[in-house]
Amino acid sequence: MRLFKLFLFGIFLVVFWSCSDLGDPLQVPEIEVSTSLNFDSVSLEDSTEATLQISNDGTLALILDSLRITGTDSADFQFTSQLADSKEIAPKGNLNITIRFKPSALGAKTAALNIFSNDPDNPSLTVSFTVGNVLVSYATQIQPIFTTNCTSCHGVPNGLYLTSYDNLMIGNSNNGPVITAGDADNSVLVQKILGTAGFGGRMPADNPSYFDSHQDELQLIKDWIDEGAQDN
Ligand code: HEC
Repeated sequence: MRLFKLFLFGIFLVVFWSCSDLGDPLQVPEIEVSTSLNFDSVSLEDSTEATLQISNDGTLALILDSLRITGTDSADFQFTSQLADSKEIAPKGNLNITIRFKPSALGAKTAALNIFSNDPDNPSLTVSFTVGNVLVSYATQIQPIFTTNCTSCHGVPNGLYLTSYDNLMIGNSNNGPVITAGDADNSVLVQKILGTAGFGGRMPADNPSYFDSHQDELQLIKDWIDEGAQDN
């Protein structure tokens, strides 16, 4: 008889244990998101987009209270679509968020996305943005330098003419191509500006010391060549 009672108690324990498990009192939302979002290299004045996936690995709806872009360069990043104040992601569901990066200046960028949610373990998360290079733009930064300082002489298709990207790259000079993509130091155009070409004078011929007081413009030309001399 005692053995039978023990047997009943055993059954009771097994049933109790499985019931409490079925009830699962610990229903929680669980946010899953990568810790960084990568943006490609982009030219100044141009833009690029990257998409972040936020998933709910939990058993209860995940509610995103707010998504905020923060950091020194936050103004260069925008959501591509207006987000509702609070977003809900069903269990095992996910939400894609696309962010556009449009650099307002050259140089490194610091920004991140802060996510506030009802996940008890991660009520606030930060996704940091990593950005490729912000590339110099030929159209908006280089051609204007040539138009201001060079085309008075190099403005007709008679030898080197600097009125457009295509005309520059034809390399129709007395000394062959003047741009070696990816290598500013070995580009005749840079050497002519520095006076190291080994022939003729420093450019611009009518104001040879111009770039001594405009180092920033010379640096743009060099960077643009080192970045591959793209038509951007
Ligand atoms: C006042 C006229 C004048 C201006 C302005 C001028 N150049 Fe020149 N450029 C010349 C002459 C003349 C030559 C040929 C003689 C020589 O190589 O120095 C030349 C040659 C060159 C060459 C060598 C091309 C070849 O055929 O071998 C390059 C590269 C060049 N210039 C770039 C520039 C750039 C870049 C600017 C503007 C920042 C500029 N030049 C402004 C008159 C000018």
